[in-house]
Amino acid sequence: MVKVSLKDGVNWVGVVDWNIRDFHGYKTNRGSTYNAYLVQDEKTALIDTVKHTFTEELIQHISEVTSFDKIDYIIVNHVEMDHSSSLPTIAKLAKNAKILASQRGKEALVEHYGQEFSNVETVKSGDELALGKKTLRFLEAPMLHWPDSMFTYLVEDKILMPNDAFGQHLATSGRFDDEVDDHILMEEATMYYANILMPFAPLITRKIQEVINMKIPIEMIAPSHGIIWRKDPSKIINAYLNWSAGSSRSKVVLVFDTMWGSTDKMAKAIADGIISESVEVKILKLRSSELSEAVTEILEAKAVLVGSPTLNNQMFPTLGQFLTYITGLKPKGKLWGFFGSYGWGGGAVKGMIETARKAGFEVYEPGVEAKYVPDQEDMKKCFEFGQQIALKVKA
Ligand code: FEO
Repeated sequence: MVKVSLKDGVNWVGVVDWNIRDFHGYKTNRGSTYNAYLVQDEKTALIDTVKHTFTEELIQHISEVTSFDKIDYIIVNHVEMDHSSSLPTIAKLAKNAKILASQRGKEALVEHYGQEFSNVETVKSGDELALGKKTLRFLEAPMLHWPDSMFTYLVEDKILMPNDAFGQHLATSGRFDDEVDDHILMEEATMYYANILMPFAPLITRKIQEVINMKIPIEMIAPSHGIIWRKDPSKIINAYLNWSAGSSRSKVVLVFDTMWGSTDKMAKAIADGIISESVEVKILKLRSSELSEAVTEILEAKAVLVGSPTLNNQMFPTLGQFLTYITGLKPKGKLWGFFGSYGWGGGAVKGMIETARKAGFEVYEPGVEAKYVPDQEDMKKCFEFGQQIALKVKA
């Protein structure tokens, strides 16, 4: 491994997962990384581990920097298995190391890996661990991403290690923001926030505000996925503040699927109506686009229109999958509209509206429906529906 030093005595020892394309359903077309860091002073601390399939690589990377018997502490910022599933092996090798986690982290470690982790020591917000000249300070961050999550701050080096927060699923040869394409980096950071952290927006706003109020200098943010922010860490902090505040722009996302082309025709007529009012529109046909891509487009949109044909009196299955995913992510402050086609009984638009209402979404009614194949009158209704939504978005 080419040595990656963040500061004197602070090294990246993680792994790059170049080939992962599906991270529990989230399409990671640019791969990912599982970052672990080794902090060396009079005492040595390993911050997080990696996914179990990369245990050998982690062992190799640590061995190139220190020997396992010199590791005094293993800090577990988060127990999700992409960061902890190599811990059982690493803990056996680092036999002198104490393991530190939040109280919820300790419980989760026992629940994942058994009673051998029942002697893990717990830390809470404000606790500090002196390694010599270097100090680790802990800050609990529940639900960023799980109840157990916490941040570790390297006081003298001014490095925040927030685990999942501020990450990106991005495999690159460079480890720092100034070594990668800025546009790609922000695209992946946006997708990561939308697909993983969006449901926790109010907690994110509060946690970032708490960090700002602590007035701790942050020279680097070293998350557990993707690159390390050192050029301008405030860029990603400000992006998170905007996203978690639900900031949006004049944009409509139109998500649909189609059986014989009728809902497709309706989608295009609706989009024309939106464009006629000079509002940006993005069209995504499910089965041609990934859910994670659709969610990313929705993050900053003011309105979302969802179209489905009727199949056996229900919405089309891909729309069911989409609505399950998007309602779980709890996007806030958007206007939702529904449209679709049917042959005899109908049911897709009704079903989608019921799902959206149950999720607490603001629904624009009525939706638009067309029987079999949309005729001129139906297409006019679709165009006008698009115009009405665009006017709402511009208001
Ligand atoms: Fe990267 Fe919540 O684990």
